[in-house]
Amino acid sequence: MTTAPSSFVKGLEGIVAAQTEMSHIDGTAGILEYVGISIGDLSKHSTFEETVFLLWNKRLPNSSELGSFTSDLRANYALPEGFVERISSLPTSAEPMHMLRTMVSALAMYDDNPNDNSVEAARAKALKILGCAPAIVAAFDRHRRGLAPVEPDTSLSFSANFLYMLNGEKPTDAMTRAFDICMITHADHGLNNSTFTARVVISTLSDLYSAMTAAIGSLRGPLHGGANEGVMKMLNQIPTIDDAEAYVMGMIERKERIMGFGHRVYKAKDPRAAELMTLAKQLADDTGNSDLYEKSHKIEQVMEREYAAKGIYPNVDFYSATTYHCIGLKLDLFTPMFALSRIAGWSGHVIEQLADNRLFRPKAEYVGDHDVPYTPINDR
Ligand code: CMC
Repeated sequence: MTTAPSSFVKGLEGIVAAQTEMSHIDGTAGILEYVGISIGDLSKHSTFEETVFLLWNKRLPNSSELGSFTSDLRANYALPEGFVERISSLPTSAEPMHMLRTMVSALAMYDDNPNDNSVEAARAKALKILGCAPAIVAAFDRHRRGLAPVEPDTSLSFSANFLYMLNGEKPTDAMTRAFDICMITHADHGLNNSTFTARVVISTLSDLYSAMTAAIGSLRGPLHGGANEGVMKMLNQIPTIDDAEAYVMGMIERKERIMGFGHRVYKAKDPRAAELMTLAKQLADDTGNSDLYEKSHKIEQVMEREYAAKGIYPNVDFYSATTYHCIGLKLDLFTPMFALSRIAGWSGHVIEQLADNRLFRPKAEYVGDHDVPYTPINDR
């Protein structure tokens, strides 16, 4: 039997599988833009609400458009009737990402028309999931702490409302802004694994809830959004800044992966890591966590010395760990925070996919045997 030359590309590296107008990455120059605007400018000047409008509409809103988009999002902060009781019945030992995946999936059953994939319906569903996902995470975290859920406050921004529902008290402006920058920097990122997952699911003309559910499942992996929790676990294992170099060198010698470093696309420092590094330093100083920031920075210096030649630099997850810790979030809420923001990107991509859909159906190269005789069961 003749075999054609293999076109198999492990991990689909370098394969262009979709077109998007949402985000652009130049991995060599270390550039990320949403609709042409640099992530640095958005982090400095924008809000999460404005950034979501930008991603979904491919332009910045004027003030009245932003006002009405913000009101629409706030109108979706509340969970459907009876939903919070479902959250309160979950095991308190559940991992928040498993919980979030399950409860986002459950939202489909509270939608009168979950399978409507028209642009208007998909946008309305995206707004619902984005608007109420923070309430799911906050209600679950309070449930496992034995606390009653806090009703959303529609006078608050997306970020302030989440921190309010989580902690039961209004956050400071500084904490709200820090959290908002995290949301902005995580909102979209080309055809990353979870976004690809969402596009693959919707390409069967399934439904937006299924696409979001699958994307959350993809995101939680330690090679993807789960890395931010891995970073924090590593930082917790390093007693002081003086131990950081030996700890990292030990990992390198054992050929272990250092979480928060490396990227399929970036061969330079991830620009989101640059933004979050500045934020992490400021927050760490303000919250008495300077030692944590210094440990992180030391690890970056060691990694730069050892791995820069291989194009391995900090990615978004490295400094987001310190940032989330300083905001007061528990370690196992770090990846759910990534999800809260990335729902914006996933749903934007799903809507793009629906607008020009073709079923994703690549091929697998068969590398097994041929012409194998069938052996009756008693002769095996
Ligand atoms: N620590 C140590 N070595 C690494 C790392 C790392 N973090 N990342 C890549 N390498 C090495 C890897 O061992 C391999 O070496 P060799 O060629 O000697 O076998 C080489 O670099 C290429 O690795 P790869 O796995 O083929 O590269 P990839 O493009 O498939 O991997 C990655 C990308 C993100 C999975 C990987 O860099 C990694 O595992 N990083 C740690 C996990 C992490 O931080 N993930 C978050 C990614 S950014 C946020 C997101 O989008 O989710």
